[in-house]
Amino acid sequence: MSKSLSNLLDGARCLSPVESRKFRAKDGREVVLRSIKWEDLDGCVEFINSLVEEGADILVDTKVSREDEADWLGKRLARAVKGEIIDIIAEVDGKMVANSEVEKRSGLMSHVGCLGIGIKADYRGIGIGTQVMQALEEESRKAGLKVLVLDAFATNKTAQALYRKMGFQDAGRIPKAICKNGKYIDLIRMTLEL
Ligand SMILES: CC(C)(COP(=O)(O)OP(=O)(O)OC[C@H]1O[C@@H](n2cnc3c(N)ncnc32)[C@H](O)[C@@H]1OP(=O)(O)O)[C@@H](O)C(=O)NCCC(=O)NCCS
Repeated sequence: MSKSLSNLLDGARCLSPVESRKFRAKDGREVVLRSIKWEDLDGCVEFINSLVEEGADILVDTKVSREDEADWLGKRLARAVKGEIIDIIAEVDGKMVANSEVEKRSGLMSHVGCLGIGIKADYRGIGIGTQVMQALEEESRKAGLKVLVLDAFATNKTAQALYRKMGFQDAGRIPKAICKNGKYIDLIRMTLEL
């Protein structure tokens, strides 16, 4: 690992950019929402590979190695320290069950954030997505963002239902933006003014 990345990671260990929160999911389990940290590396690998394995409607379609994920996480923590990204994970019984982010655009779009979210299959439908979205919205406002944007696969009706429930509005459709298993899928762009 380079010296500068290692210094940034040390900074990330001391900083907790996102205020942590606790709530009870609809099934009664306690859920903690907090910033991602270096110690979450193995949880991140298991999390993303479980979504890839089930064929979830996300942009990643290939399983990642621990090494690839370490590279991804190192860069992500460095960007979080610089305030370029808000990353919130959900934890149940010490296990990472969700990851999400708002990535700040730059230049003339630095008031705009791009949102992404994923919940592990066994933990869906119990309100975690709703709480994570609320936390992302709050943290985005605190960071001075004015607009959130996201893209959902046209086939992903659950995600679209969540986003509409949170007040996101349809802003357009990108035809055939995704090619999954040889089939084209449109992307639905949605936005929320904060
Ligand atoms: C989309 C996703 C984030 C929703 O998270 P979740 O924790 O299951 O969401 P919640 O339990 O908070 O439910 C939120 C809303 O989604 C909708 N929803 C949840 N489960 C649903 C289902 N099985 N069918 C239809 N709508 C559903 C409902 O509108 C629900 O609101 P309600 O409980 O007030 O009725 C989750 O399904 C997921 O991670 N899927 C795989 C990855 C993914 O698709 N990410 C988004 C990429 S754009």
